[in-house]
This record gives sequence, C-alpha cells and structure tokens, in this order.
Amino acid sequence: MVPWTAVALITATTFFSCLDTGSCHSCLEVFPSIEYQCTDRNFSEVPMDIPSSTQNLDLSFNPLRSLAPRSFSRITGLIILDLSRCDIQKIEDDTYQGLYNLSTLILTGNPIQSLGLRAFYGLPKLQKLVVVETNLVSLEDFPIGHLVTLQELYLGHNFISSLQLPSYFASFSSLQHLDLHLNQIKNISDGDLEPIKLNSNLTLDLSQNPIQYIQPGILKGIHLSGLILRGSFHSSTIMDACLKGMTGLQVDKLVLGDYKNEIRLGSFESNTLDGLCEVDISEFWMVAPSEFPSDSNGFFKCLVNISIFHLVMAPIEELTNLPTFPKLFSLVLTECNFDILPILPSTSLPSLKELRITRHKDLTTLSNLELPNLELLDLSQNSLTVLSCCSDNTFGTTKLKYLNLSYNAHIKFSKNFMGLENLESLDLQHCKLKDQNNLPLFFSLTNLQYLDISYTDTHVKSKHMFTGLSNLRHLKMAGNSFQDNILHDIFKNLSELVSLNISYCHLERVLQEAMESLHQLQVLDISHNNLQTFDPLICMPLWNLQVLNCSFNSLTALDGQNLEALPGTLVSIDLSGNPFDCVCDHQIFFQWVKEHIHLLNRSNPMTCQNPSHMKDVSVLLFDNITCQMKNTIIAMSVLGIMVVILVLALVYKFYFHLMLLVGCKKIGGGESTYDAFVIYSSQDEEWVRKELVKNLEEGVPSFQLCLHYRDFIPGVAIAANIIQEGFHKSRKVIVVISKHFIQSRWCKFEYEIAQTWQFLSSQAGIIFIMLQKVEKSLLRQQVELYRLLRRNTYLEWEDTSLGRHVFWRRLRKALLDGRTKSHNKVAEQGTR
Ligand SMILES: *[C@@H]1O[C@H](CO)[C@@H](O)[C@H](O)[C@H]1NC(C)=O
Ligand SMILES: *[C@@H]1O[C@H](CO)[C@@H](O)[C@H](O)[C@H]1NC(C)=O
Ligand SMILES: *[C@@H]1O[C@H](CO)[C@@H](O)[C@H](O)[C@H]1NC(C)=O
Ligand SMILES: *[C@@H]1O[C@H](CO)[C@@H](O)[C@H](O)[C@H]1NC(C)=O
Ligand SMILES: *[C@@H]1O[C@H](CO)[C@@H](O)[C@H](O)[C@H]1NC(C)=O
Ligand SMILES: *[C@@H]1O[C@H](CO)[C@@H](O)[C@H](O)[C@H]1NC(C)=O
Ligand SMILES: *[C@@H]1O[C@H](CO)[C@@H](O)[C@H](O)[C@H]1NC(C)=O
Ligand SMILES: *[C@@H]1O[C@H](CO)[C@@H](O)[C@H](O)[C@H]1NC(C)=O
Ligand SMILES: *[C@@H]1O[C@H](CO)[C@@H](O)[C@H](O)[C@H]1NC(C)=O
Ligand SMILES: *[C@@H]1O[C@H](CO)[C@@H](O)[C@H](O)[C@H]1NC(C)=O
Ligand SMILES: *[C@@H]1O[C@H](CO)[C@@H](O)[C@H](O)[C@H]1NC(C)=O
Repeated sequence: MVPWTAVALITATTFFSCLDTGSCHSCLEVFPSIEYQCTDRNFSEVPMDIPSSTQNLDLSFNPLRSLAPRSFSRITGLIILDLSRCDIQKIEDDTYQGLYNLSTLILTGNPIQSLGLRAFYGLPKLQKLVVVETNLVSLEDFPIGHLVTLQELYLGHNFISSLQLPSYFASFSSLQHLDLHLNQIKNISDGDLEPIKLNSNLTLDLSQNPIQYIQPGILKGIHLSGLILRGSFHSSTIMDACLKGMTGLQVDKLVLGDYKNEIRLGSFESNTLDGLCEVDISEFWMVAPSEFPSDSNGFFKCLVNISIFHLVMAPIEELTNLPTFPKLFSLVLTECNFDILPILPSTSLPSLKELRITRHKDLTTLSNLELPNLELLDLSQNSLTVLSCCSDNTFGTTKLKYLNLSYNAHIKFSKNFMGLENLESLDLQHCKLKDQNNLPLFFSLTNLQYLDISYTDTHVKSKHMFTGLSNLRHLKMAGNSFQDNILHDIFKNLSELVSLNISYCHLERVLQEAMESLHQLQVLDISHNNLQTFDPLICMPLWNLQVLNCSFNSLTALDGQNLEALPGTLVSIDLSGNPFDCVCDHQIFFQWVKEHIHLLNRSNPMTCQNPSHMKDVSVLLFDNITCQMKNTIIAMSVLGIMVVILVLALVYKFYFHLMLLVGCKKIGGGESTYDAFVIYSSQDEEWVRKELVKNLEEGVPSFQLCLHYRDFIPGVAIAANIIQEGFHKSRKVIVVISKHFIQSRWCKFEYEIAQTWQFLSSQAGIIFIMLQKVEKSLLRQQVELYRLLRRNTYLEWEDTSLGRHVFWRRLRKALLDGRTKSHNKVAEQGTR
C-alpha cells in the first residue's frame, strides 16, 4: 500500500515536471525551469523542449550553423545565452528578437561570415557581448551601435587592425570593459579613442596586439579606468617609444609586461619606463618581465607617485636600492622567484600599509620584516614554516590588523601574539598548527573579529581554547576535531560571534550548553559531521540565528517535540544529505518540514533513507495518512483485545451460570428426575434428614428430593454435581435459610446459581424455607438473598404442632405446583 502510493506519486511528479518542461532528456537540467546545459548534443536547431522560463541556456558545441529570425523568441525568460563554437556562419536579422531580458550573449568561436544589419536587434538589456574569435575584421560595420546598455564588450582574437572606434561608442555610456586582445592593432593614432573620451570608467585591454606606434600626445585628456598592455610590444625599445607617446594619459590601473610562455620584451634598460613620468597612474602592474636593470632606482623613478604596486612573476631576489615611494600604500608580490623574503627598506616605503607576498613555492622561511606602519600582511599560499609564531618582533610592527598566513606549511606557536593586540583578522587555515598546548592561544587578541583555523589539524581538548576573544565575530574551524567528538561549551566567552563554521569536524554529539552564550550568532554551519541527533533546543539561545546548515550528517529526524525551540529569525535551514527515517514516529517532524518549506533550498532536497521503499524519495512525499491508518488499526486491536479479556472475565465469573444455560438447552425442558433440589448448610443437615426428607419422601404424595450427600455422583466436581444433578434434574429448588447458611460460601454460590436457573427456566421456582429467625442485619449482608426474600414469599419453620401442620401443607402445595400428571402417576406408583 505505502510503496505503491509513493511510487505513484513519484511517477506523477516526474510526469508532470516532464510535461511542464517538455521532455526531460535532451538537455541537462541544472536548475529546473531555470538553467539548462545542452553542450555538445548534436543539435542543429534550438531544442523545442526548453521551457520558456529558462534563464540560463548553454547551447555551446552544437552544429547550429545558421540562426534564423526569432530563433529564441519562445524562450522569453533568457538572461544568459551561450552559443560558443556552434559553427555559426550566418546570423540573420532579428535572430534575438524577443529576448527582452537577455543580459549576456556569448558567440565565441563562430566563423561568422554573414551578419545582418539588424542581427542584434531586440536586445534592450544586453550588458555583456562576447564575440571573441569570430572572424571580425572591423568595428566600423559591426552592427551593435544601438546596444547602449552594454557594459562589457569582448572582441578579442579577431582580425581588427584599427583602433579607430566608431562614433557609436560615444553612446555606450555604461561601457566598463573593452577587450581587444589578440587583434592586429599596430598603432594608436589621431581620433582613435575620441568617442570614449567622456567615459572615465573604461578598462581597455590591448594585450597581444603588435603595437608599434602611439602618436605622441594623442591620449592627452583621456581618463581610463584601466589599460592593459601585456605582450603588446615586441621589444623594450618599442615599448619605450610607445610609453613616451602616452603623455598626458590619466589611468587608474596600468598593466605592462608579458605572458610567461611568450616573452617578447627583452631585458629592460633603466630608462625603459621613462615615458611614464608624464602619465598619471595610481595602480601599476608589471607582469612577467624578463629582467630588471640593476639600477632599480632609476628604472622605477617615474612610478614613485603610485599607490598600489603589483609585481607578478618578476625575477627579483631583492628590492634594495629602490627610490622612495612616498604614497605607496600597497605592495603585492605574486609568484616571483625568490626563496627568501626580499628585504623591504622601510625608508623607501614610508606609507606602506598593505603587503601581500603570495604564491611562492620556494619561500619556506619567514625572515623578520621591518615595516612599522604595516596594517595588513598577507603571506598566504607560500611554503612557510613559522617556528615561533608570532609577536610584534616578527613583523616589525604593532599596528597589524590583518594577518593571513593561510595555506603554508607549519606554524608553531610560542609568542601567543604578544604585541599584536590590534589584530582584527587572523587567517591560519590549511596550515599545520603545532604546539597549541591547548593554552588559551589567542588570549591577548581582544580586538580580533575574524579567525580562520579551518583544516589546521587542531584537536580541541581545552575549554579555554578561545578564551580572550571577546570581540570575535566570525570563527571558521572546519576540518578539525574535538575531544571524543563531542562539542562542549568551548564558545563561552564568544558572545559577539555572528558566524560559526564547525563543518567537517567528525562531531557526533553537541552538548545542550554548547552554544549557550551565542546570542548574536546568525550563521551556523555544522554540516558534514556525524551527528545522529541534533536537539533543536541547542538553538534556543541563538536568538538571532538566520542560517542553520545541518546537511550531510547522520540525522534520521529532528525531535518533533522541540522544533518550536528553533528561533523564529531563521531564513534558511539546510538538512539535506541526511539519512532520514521516513516512519510515522517522525511524522511531526516531516509535517513541520512541509510547513516550513520556505526555509529550505530547492536545490538541496531532503530525501529518505529508510524504509527501503522510500529510499531517495523526497521527505515531502511522506504521507501521514498511513500513520493515521496505523493508529486506527492499533486502536481497533486494543479495543478487540479488551473485549476478549472482558468476555473471558465474564465467562470465568459466570462459568457455572453458562453451564446451566447449556444444560437447559440440552435437556430442553425434558423430564425431571427430582421434584426439588435442596440447598442447605451442612450444619442444618440433621433437620433436613429428620424433618424434610422424612416428611416429603415418605409422605403421600411422596416427593423425590435431590440431596447432595445421597444423590451426587462421586468423583465429579461438586460444582458440576450441583448443576448437573441438582439443578438440571430438579423441578424446584428448596433453599433452607439459617444463620449457617448465610455464612457459608458454598450456599451462597448455590443460591446464586439457583437464581440464574430460575431466570432461565420459566416454570421453575425457588422455595425459601426460613429455618430460624435470622436477624435482619445479618441478612442484609447477603444483599441478593435479602432482596429475593423481600420479593418472594417464604415458609417459616415453626416447631409447634400447628406450625408444623401449616408448614408441611404449604410446602407440599408449593412443590406440587407445576407437577405434570405423568409425573404424579409415577410418583404415586412409586409410593405404592
Ligand atoms: C548529428 O546529427 C546529424 C543529423 O542532424 C547526423 O547526420 C550525424 O550523424 C549526427 N552526428 C553524431 C555524432 O551523432
Ligand atoms: C524580465 O525580467 C523582469 C524582472 O527581472 C520580469 O519581471 C519579467 O517577467 C521578465 N520578462 C520576461 C519576458 O521573462
Ligand atoms: C596607423 O594605422 C592607420 C590604419 O591602420 C594607418 O592609416 C596609419 O597610416 C598608421 N599610422 C602610422 C604612423 O603608422
Ligand atoms: C564605474 O565602474 C564601476 C564598476 O567597475 C561601477 O560600479 C561604477 O558605477 C561605474 N561608474 C560610472 C560613473 O559609470
Ligand atoms: C610625484 O608627485 C609630486 C608631487 O605630488 C611631483 O612633484 C612629482 O613630480 C611627481 N613625480 C612623478 C614622477 O610624477
Ligand atoms: C587569506 O588568503 C587566502 C588565500 O590567498 C584567501 O583565500 C583568504 O580569503 C584570505 N583570508 C582573508 C581573511 O582574507
Ligand atoms: C569568560 O566568561 C566567564 C563567564 O562566562 C567570565 O567569568 C570570564 O571572566 C570570561 N573571561 C574572559 C577572559 O572574558
Ligand atoms: C564552512 O567551511 C566549509 C569548509 O571550508 C565550506 O565549504 C563552507 O562553505 C563553509 N560554510 C560557510 C557557511 O561559509
Ligand atoms: C550547507 O552546506 C552544504 C555543504 O557544505 C552546502 O552544499 C550547502 O549549500 C549549504 N547550504 C546553505 C543553505 O548554505
Ligand atoms: C497530517 O497531514 C495533514 C495535511 O498535511 C495535516 O493537516 C495534519 O496535521 C497532519 N497530522 C499530523 C499528526 O502531523
Ligand atoms: C541554494 O543552494 C545553492 C547551492 O547549494 C546556492 O547556490 C543557492 O544560492 C541557494 N539558494 C538559496 C535561495 O539560498
């Protein structure tokens, strides 16, 4: 029943989603109805099964060849369209008509031969156009003049030979990036950049063009956000001349240099950069230069006013003999070829506040720095082993606010950050941290706001690990471990913490008090652990929690009773990747999930692991109807069992009454052997023998009495005898009441049976004989008997001659009542 419901549901949902999105197999559905990837599927036209709501469509590497008008007008939702390497040779007019929201169009690697004049019509929101490697020869007849919303235009790897920008560029007021790399531009001359003169926000990439000539003064008054000239000059002599031609240019960021695998510039002369004295530059990049002149003082003399200096892949071993850079604020050295830190003379760099030395494979030791104003130091991604980390002496500054030592080899702690109390951000991720000794390592860092010790082989043993970090706002410690895999209350003093990442930590349990003081916490990532339970009560103190990520643990459910403890501030909860037990015990939880679906992320679905027929099915398909059915079944069974027990109890209690009933049916009113069955107390046996038997059995007419001492069959249980011999075979019952009788349990049993018997056989009657006066109070103790005596008349034994006479007459009359004739005869014959 259950599996079939589930299967039907799944089939139905798949079926409907297929109807909705067309067929499900022609493209990869990255995000339903939104993103489809159709790379390399041998489509010769746009597939019909792409839903019109699709925003991101990748059709690259299909043999589309030519595009007809309105090819995409059905998919009106498109925002990104990738048509890379589709062998498109012809784009007709109005091909993209209808794509009101298209923002990115990628046409890389198409051998376009024919382009309609209205080819790009109907793209009112296009921001990024990529026409790299499309056989473009000239910008003049490239029909994009109306695309005034363009922000990025990529025209690289074509055959454009002139930088003469068409006048329509003047209307591209939002253009920020113009990429013309790998074209055939040889010179920059009069009027070329005139149309963009008013756009000061543009970055122009002319890398890998064979530039030979820049007309001097032609760039005067032009302000560029960036100018990239990598591999643009075939020799340092040509570069020298061209830079001189750039007089009067104002550029925020200038990039010069080569590509590592294609060095064109030879070794530099000390005057190679002289032309830059007349160029206003704030950020200067030099990429992969082959060799600096020994006179670096002279070489850099025109760059002294820059504020940011990047040296990438530079062949430097030392940076002595530098001119003074009075405004240099940031120095970045990336992938250079030194294996010990170059000495940076603080006199040359009086304003240096930021130093980044990254990605040096051979840099293994940290020599002391002497930069007293340094506030930011990024030494990440080298191969450093820091033997005694860290103090103000290590870096020659006490002003350090940001220290990044991540992705290095080993860091040994010994100085506990003495003198670095101003640190606000400390990144040690992916280093092997040694000698932590579980002391409060960061005790002095009271200003620290950001700490990353992810993947540092940290094994947290001490409760005091984070003591002192009273201003910490972000703590990342993924990929470490905790003692016994239990999270204790180690975050006690981190009351300012806003985000906490303890993913990939092998955690098996989180103690209730672990997060007690984290009232400011907004983001908690505890994913990829081994938690089998996560009590929502843990989150109760997290009054500001917005994002909770418990994905990829071993949770089978959350405790349904405590779900109310989850803070109301939550906007996102991720429980995906857990082996949920989709059983009725957890139905409150699954109901809660359904009611809080807005907190879940559709792309990270929660699926069942158990029971097996629900495996990999979304927990949203868990149906509590089956649970109600189960409840009903349980209730019914309980009721049934109770009824059976009740019946058994009744049968037990009234066993003899039932036997009586059975006997009645069996005998079915057949002949009776006795006239009366006498019930009496054994104490009264004498009276029964001497008076009752004598008078009734020996008188005329004579009556046959059933007396247990005489008539009961030996070897049969007394109770059975009472019923089978006494009641079943007698017409009437004589009850001899005395004090003894009332006190005897057997007698009580007998007259109760008698009562039932009377009730069952209509003609039968009970004759009560009151042998002695019994006190009413004693009588009342036998409620039933008392009631019977009140309802029925009874005979009183009186041992006087008149009393006897009356008594025997009344008794005989009562016994005769209902006696059949034949019986009478038999009785009469018997008496003769
Ligand atoms: C691609 O589709 C064409 C027909 O459209 C067919 O002739 C060709 O064999 C297909 N190529 C592959 C590799 O399937
Ligand atoms: C275009 O985007 C806007 C807002 O982003 C949306 O309201 C509109 O429906 C989209 N148009 C089409 C045709 O999808
Ligand atoms: C610069 O290039 C343009 C067009 O390619 C050409 O007409 C002009 O003669 C060139 N000027 C110089 C000085 O090379
Ligand atoms: C300049 O470009 C930046 C992005 O690079 C953008 O944020 C800014 O708004 C642009 N300014 C103008 C005046 O266009
Ligand atoms: C650097 O700026 C100072 C004044 O701010 C100026 O005198 C000097 O000429 C500039 N140097 C260069 C090479 O531009
Ligand atoms: C430290 O450097 C690494 C690698 O360069 C980088 O990923 C990380 O974001 C940096 N840390 C901070 C806090 O900026
Ligand atoms: C840490 O918090 C405890 C109380 O939770 C407090 O007694 C102690 O002084 C705090 N320690 C520091 C260093 O702030
Ligand atoms: C937590 O750290 C893990 C591992 O570094 C990372 O993948 C994840 O994105 C982080 N979580 C958050 C919320 O930043
Ligand atoms: C939760 O963590 C997992 C694994 O790190 C990640 O894939 C997922 O995107 C996160 N969820 C949210 C809502 O950040
Ligand atoms: C069962 O599901 C229905 C509808 O989804 C819901 O109204 C009801 O509260 C659920 N019962 C329980 C016990 O969760
Ligand atoms: C859902 O999760 C995916 C990846 O895990 C992420 O890229 C996306 O931004 C998330 N969406 C929302 C609405 O949180």
